[in-house]
Amino acid sequence: MRATAVAFPNIALIKYWGKRDEALIIPQTSSLSLTLAVYPTTTTVTLAADGEQHQVLQDGAPMPQAASVKVARFLDHVGQLAGSSRGACVETSNAGPTGAGLASSASGFAALAAAAAAAYGLDLSSRDLSRLARRGSGSASRSIFGGFAVWNAGTDDLSSYAEPVSDAHVDAAMVLGIVNAGAKPISSRDAMRRTVETSPYNAPWVETNPTELALMRDALRRGDFTEVGEISERNALRMHAAMLGAVPPVRYLTAGSMALLDAVAELRRGGLEAYATMDAGPNVKTLCRSADAPAVRAALAAAAPGIEFVIAESGPGVAVSGPDDADDAPAARGATR
Ligand code: PMV
Repeated sequence: MRATAVAFPNIALIKYWGKRDEALIIPQTSSLSLTLAVYPTTTTVTLAADGEQHQVLQDGAPMPQAASVKVARFLDHVGQLAGSSRGACVETSNAGPTGAGLASSASGFAALAAAAAAAYGLDLSSRDLSRLARRGSGSASRSIFGGFAVWNAGTDDLSSYAEPVSDAHVDAAMVLGIVNAGAKPISSRDAMRRTVETSPYNAPWVETNPTELALMRDALRRGDFTEVGEISERNALRMHAAMLGAVPPVRYLTAGSMALLDAVAELRRGGLEAYATMDAGPNVKTLCRSADAPAVRAALAAAAPGIEFVIAESGPGVAVSGPDDADDAPAARGATR
C-alpha cells in the first residue's frame, strides 16, 4: 500500500520550549501557532515486504543518518500501532529550507504521520493523528491543523494533542525574513534539554506561559490584533531569554536577527503594525495583518537589503491521498501525488 501527504509548517505565537517527558514528547507548557501556506513537505510512504528494512529518501537521495534513524523509529511505532512488521519506503521533499528554524520538522513529521498512518491502514481521528505526529516532533502536532492551532500540553500520551482554535477573529499573515537558510548549529531537541536542565530562567518561563496563553486566546477571540502581536513578540523574546540563560548558553539569534527586530520596531513607530517572532534559528518572522503583508514586506526589504522576504498567509491542515495499491499502473500512481 502507498499513501501521500502534504503538510505545511507552523510558527508558534506562544512557544513550546522544553519537554516534561523526553520519550513521549510531552511539553512543559501548552503552545499556540499559525499554520503557514508556504514551504510544504510532501511525503509518500510505500509499504515494503514483511521484515524488510525501512528506506528513507529525501529529494531522491538517502536521508542523513541521524534524521533517517529518527524516521525509522517513527515508522516502527506506526507499524506497532497497526500490528504490522512490514518495512516502508519514505520519499520526502521540503519546498523550503530544512533545519533552519523554519519549521521543516513540523511539516515533515505531520506529513510523515499522515502518510504512514494511511499506508499502514490506520484510520485515525485528527486528534490521534496529532498525537502521532507529536511523537516525531512536538511542533508537528500543530501542523495537522490549518490556521491557528493550540497544543494542549497534557500530562501523558493521551492528553497531549493539538486542536484548531475555532474562535479566532484575527486575519494574520507572516513575512518570513530569511537571515540564513543554513541548518541550525544545535538541534531544538538538545537546546531544549539544556535549557530545562541548566537555565535558571526555565522555571519562570514555565510559570508564566499559561497566563500568556490565556491572554493570547482571549485576544484572538476578541480580534485584538495589537494584543496578539504584543504577546507574540514578548513570548518569543522570553523563550530566547530562557535559552540564553542555559549553561553553556544557546544563542540562535545573530546580528542579522537583531537588525530585523530593530526594523520591525521602526515599522511600528511609523504606524504599520508588525511584530517579530523567532524560533530555533536566526530567521525573523514578522506577524502582521494579512492586508498589510505586502507593505510590511516592502518596508522590511528596504530596511534590510540582501535579505529575502517571503509572505506567508494562513495555510491549511494536512491533506492525504491514498492509500492505494502500490502495484497499480503508473497512471493510477500519478493520480495520488
Ligand atoms: O518540535 P521541535 O522540536 O521542532 O521544536 C520547535 C520549537 C520551536 O519552534 C522553537 C517553538 C515552537 O513552538 O514551534
